[in-house]
Amino acid sequence: MADDLCFFTKDSFILKSPKKSPLVLRTVVLLFVMVCGVYICTICLKQISTGSTTEFLNFRVDQKPCPEPNIEPWEIPYVHYPNPKTYSRAECACNPVRYFAIMSMQRSGSGWFETLLNNHTNISSNGEIFSVKVRRSNVSTIFETLDRIYNLDWMSSASKNECTAAVGLKWMLNQGLMQHHKEIVEYFNTRGVSTILLFRRNLLRRMISILANSYDRDAKPLNGTHKSHVHSPYEAAILASYKPVINATTLIPILRQVEETTKKGLEYFKSTRHIILYYEDVVKNHTKLAEVQEFLKVPKRELKSRQVKIHKGSLSNHIQNWVDVEKALNGTKYESYLHGDYRK
Ligand SMILES: *[C@@H]1O[C@H](CO)[C@@H](O)[C@H](O)[C@H]1NC(C)=O
Ligand SMILES: *[C@@H]1O[C@H](CO)[C@@H](O)[C@H](O)[C@H]1NC(C)=O
Ligand SMILES: *[C@@H]1O[C@H](CO)[C@@H](O)[C@H](O)[C@H]1NC(C)=O
Ligand SMILES: *[C@@H]1O[C@H](CO)[C@@H](O)[C@H](O)[C@H]1NC(C)=O
Ligand SMILES: *[C@@H]1O[C@H](CO)[C@@H](O)[C@H](O)[C@H]1NC(C)=O
Ligand SMILES: *[C@@H]1O[C@H](CO)[C@@H](O)[C@H](O)[C@H]1NC(C)=O
Ligand SMILES: *[C@@H]1O[C@H](CO)[C@@H](O)[C@H](O)[C@H]1NC(C)=O
Repeated sequence: MADDLCFFTKDSFILKSPKKSPLVLRTVVLLFVMVCGVYICTICLKQISTGSTTEFLNFRVDQKPCPEPNIEPWEIPYVHYPNPKTYSRAECACNPVRYFAIMSMQRSGSGWFETLLNNHTNISSNGEIFSVKVRRSNVSTIFETLDRIYNLDWMSSASKNECTAAVGLKWMLNQGLMQHHKEIVEYFNTRGVSTILLFRRNLLRRMISILANSYDRDAKPLNGTHKSHVHSPYEAAILASYKPVINATTLIPILRQVEETTKKGLEYFKSTRHIILYYEDVVKNHTKLAEVQEFLKVPKRELKSRQVKIHKGSLSNHIQNWVDVEKALNGTKYESYLHGDYRK
């Protein structure tokens, strides 16, 4: 019975198929081609819209089979997996690395700020690399230097090497940054480098620090060595005992000039991924450092610096011709510089 049934179905199939098969087959093939076409189009569109992303991910997957980091899509261009020429990243090869640059001006607290960053086990800020003139002779030497830093091939006392999660440098505005700002912004935006813009609010205090530092360069009261930063209150007191005379005539033009440079720097680099910090705020408010660590996407740590502030307390104690300075700034927009004080 079963055989009969079987035979019957087979038979009926054989009988019917020669008539219907070509039409059914054609319809199936047509549908298949249509579905394929739609699928290919979708893939193409996807690749066009997220072209760079796909390329980036493919590249990395080819280089190193690291697991996908759990990040937001906007972060992808800022996440890197450097492959240093000089050593192996070993157990940290799959730890993502962020690139940064601290842009600042001399005597604006960037030295202190950098020691704070370098107190983090996963941050390497390699110092004022472009203070050496040949490295900033032209855009090519600047890019070569940056490539080496961001590939984790730059060796300094700050390098944490394999387990670095954020690598960068300290860069003063007058070290080629203003001159080559266009090319540098382009490099930052194509290579995914973030900028920390660090300035000082009280430019009069900054001026005292510059004058005192320049005096120290010649006088060297600390056993004949010039120190831009100190690690003890004793040394700080010796350096602060020098009280500069400020030329009251040129004071306002100089303050205005510094203000202009700061404004220009902010303008030039605002199209990079950036954070703006003021030295005074970091001193007063320790959550600013948490904000910086969040910006660099490193695990949050309590950061310590051994540096001691040199010029503490009221400014009137640090300027020889205080009365002249007070007169010069009284009633101007810079008047607040006279009164700014720190608790630390
Ligand atoms: C951070 O500072 C503390 C206190 O000075 C020190 O014990 C620690 O070794 C520092 N960490 C790094 C990575 O420099
Ligand atoms: C850039 O400067 C370096 C070092 O001063 C020099 O060797 C090189 O030829 C310069 N390159 C260009 C393109 O000017
Ligand atoms: C930070 O460095 C430590 C080793 O010092 C390493 O174990 C850890 O994975 C690093 N963290 C990141 C986020 O790279
Ligand atoms: C100079 O050096 C001596 C010996 O190292 C030290 O005891 C002294 O405190 C130093 N003085 C200053 C001003 O740094
Ligand atoms: C202040 O600077 C101006 C311009 O450089 C100069 O002519 C003047 O002599 C200076 N005044 C003092 C008191 O040094
Ligand atoms: C300290 O800084 C944080 C983060 O920037 C900010 O939210 C907070 O308001 C600041 N606190 C004070 C007292 O200024
Ligand atoms: C500052 O100016 C005000 C008037 O605007 C005056 O009363 C005060 O004495 C001035 N102070 C100094 C130190 O010149």
